[in-house]
Amino acid sequence: MADLQHDIAKILITREQLQTRIAEMGETISRDYKDKDLLLVCILKGGVLFLSDLVRAIHIPHAMDFMAISSYGGTRTESSGVVRILMDLNTSIERRNVLIVEDIIDTGRTLTYIIGNLKTRNPASLKICTLLNKPSRREVNVPVDYAGFDIPNEFVVGYGLDYDEIYRNLPFVGVLKPSVYVHGRETE
Ligand code: PRP
Repeated sequence: MADLQHDIAKILITREQLQTRIAEMGETISRDYKDKDLLLVCILKGGVLFLSDLVRAIHIPHAMDFMAISSYGGTRTESSGVVRILMDLNTSIERRNVLIVEDIIDTGRTLTYIIGNLKTRNPASLKICTLLNKPSRREVNVPVDYAGFDIPNEFVVGYGLDYDEIYRNLPFVGVLKPSVYVHGRETE
């Protein structure tokens, strides 16, 4: 992990801070959805590390499913919001209480698309849970029901978040050195 950490300018959220906050979120979600048919919908790929810790902090029965979205027309550091579904849910969400699990909300465009799409499938309720939220970058208003951390407008990687598919395995959320996305990673 040492070589990946070399590319990190600073750690924004430590492993301990992540785990403490996720435990709190799991408690809140367990209370809010008690006796309800809860289905967590994880948006791949970034949300997968958060989901795996969040489900272990939720102590009520629930199911999980996955969607993969492709965003195109953007850059390596920003999504365009022009999205299409690469992999759809396996299960019907009709009359179920759906909680979307995301790693980060930036402009809000991706989730706006997903919400619009899922609403047409008649869930009993549809709410949003994100680990990270960048309110200063919002272009479209998104109703965030559960947010782990509001963060400043810096390019973050780790704990599911990537740059060019790398860094997702870092156990913390860190700010990537700008030299990496300006000059590329040193692989030697
Ligand atoms: C990230 C993140 C959200 C989206 C947020 O996904 O997981 O889905 O961008 O950006 P927005 O609010 O500006 O639309 P990304 O496209 O990087 O895919 P990934 O999860 O596979 O890394």
